[in-house]
Amino acid sequence: MLDNLRNNIDFFLRNKTKFSRKNYFESSEPKDNLNFTNEEVELENILLNKYDFKNYRNNSTIINYKQNLYTLYLLDKYLNPDYSDELSILDIGSKNWFYVNAEFSFFKKYTKKLYLDGVEIDAYRLYSNLYSRYEVAKFYTKHLNNVNYIPDNLMNIKKRYDYITWFLPFVIIQPHRFWGLPDKYFYPEKLFEHAYSLLKPNGSMLIINQGKDEAEVQKNIIRERRFEVFKLASPFYAYKNERFLYRIIKNGEV
Ligand SMILES: C[S@@+](CC[C@H](N)C(=O)[O-])C[C@H]1O[C@@H](n2cnc3c(N)ncnc32)[C@H](O)[C@@H]1O
Repeated sequence: MLDNLRNNIDFFLRNKTKFSRKNYFESSEPKDNLNFTNEEVELENILLNKYDFKNYRNNSTIINYKQNLYTLYLLDKYLNPDYSDELSILDIGSKNWFYVNAEFSFFKKYTKKLYLDGVEIDAYRLYSNLYSRYEVAKFYTKHLNNVNYIPDNLMNIKKRYDYITWFLPFVIIQPHRFWGLPDKYFYPEKLFEHAYSLLKPNGSMLIINQGKDEAEVQKNIIRERRFEVFKLASPFYAYKNERFLYRIIKNGEV
């Protein structure tokens, strides 16, 4: 009750003031010792060549590079887009969009014209260094064409998309509250139905959940939609909790 009241007030204030320090910047770090196994090095080289990702390797921090490599790995493993003149992609709940470069390089390989949107309801949440997620996302998206970080609720998105990525949605209320969101924005079924309605016919959505419990709740939210589920391996970046990935395909329905 009190948590929700505090979250409501804080959320209102940060969205009203949009306060942040400006011009967030991360200095690139050398990648001489990434502590990868031999298999990871082999996989890294395959991904770097396939997705033209060497430049990012030379212009990123170690942690951010590893997180992006992990994202590239799972997109490569679980999506196989047909080449198309134009592709529109939506990432939901992007936070500061630290993994946008992996998404961009992956989808760019499959199209001449890529439009990549990321939507985040709490874009003005501040880090302890007084930069907002919005300002950090500006840094990560700086050199990427037609990439759009949208500080808004998913429910307000109306465009249609070929692919949707949704990493770690809140499907139970405790993490939603813990991350500072008011209870009135907790409606996981409605969010899923809306996201699904944004998919074009034959479009696909990837959802990642952490832990068996959240994955089970997610399954009930997906209901009768066509999906496959996979337990994720975690090369390049060791995540604490086990992760599950749902691949949902919209069967030519409109
Ligand atoms: C657990 S975080 C995941 C962040 C990021 N995708 C990642 O992989 O680390 C979930 C994010 O979804 C955002 N979110 C929750 N409800 C949303 C909504 N209705 N519209 C847009 N973003 C939402 C939250 O603010 C939070 O940043």
